Amino acid sequence: MKLVYFGHSAFQLETGGATLLVDPWITGNPRAEGVISPDELNPDVIFLTHAHEDHLGDAPEIAKRSGALVVSNFEITSYFSREHGHDHVLAMNTGGAWTFDWGKVHQTYARHSSSFPDGGYGGNPNGFVFEIEGKSAYAAGDTCAFAEMEWIGDDFEPDLALLPIGDCFTSGIRDAVRAAGLLRPDLTVPVHYNTFPPIEVDVSQWEQLMDEAGFATRVLEPGGVLEI
Ligand code: NI
Ligand code: MN
Repeated sequence: MKLVYFGHSAFQLETGGATLLVDPWITGNPRAEGVISPDELNPDVIFLTHAHEDHLGDAPEIAKRSGALVVSNFEITSYFSREHGHDHVLAMNTGGAWTFDWGKVHQTYARHSSSFPDGGYGGNPNGFVFEIEGKSAYAAGDTCAFAEMEWIGDDFEPDLALLPIGDCFTSGIRDAVRAAGLLRPDLTVPVHYNTFPPIEVDVSQWEQLMDEAGFATRVLEPGGVLEI
């Protein structure tokens, strides 16, 4: 499958069977500017890790235009039905899995918060594990490292992990290296950094610490593509 990164936590997985869009914050995302416009995105499924604006982003508009299935926690999928008249949704919750005709997705725990831009309750935050075409990719969502990441490593042996490194709102560099140690992915792509001042980090420090720990990482610029 092909990963296309749009900056911050927004990315797309392109598989033989479906195009999956995750946390599509494009409008107002300084990292996505000039890289992609929401109108160009035509996913089959949109996955949302939580309700914060920098993840929910353009999802309502993209969902309505494309007719994509929206997969998220119950509170967020209810919001799509109630506020946007978009009923093509699948509600999941932490620990649950769903089998699609293109693969299987597990909704994982994330240690964070989740509220809508108006302050309304957005359910619990999550991550996702995508098992597609014999590969597994773990998108942690917004979280710190947590001990049960070891179970995710045991259960899915991730080929790819997307881990937040920007600190302040999520794990920072050292905590994300610890997360990689628990998950033991073949490759880690850092996300959720250098979007705005509170989450500016020195990415070369991340690369150096991952190298010292014996883990492969690939820093993707917005628009960057990766085949796994
Ligand atoms: Ni958040
Ligand atoms: Mn965030």
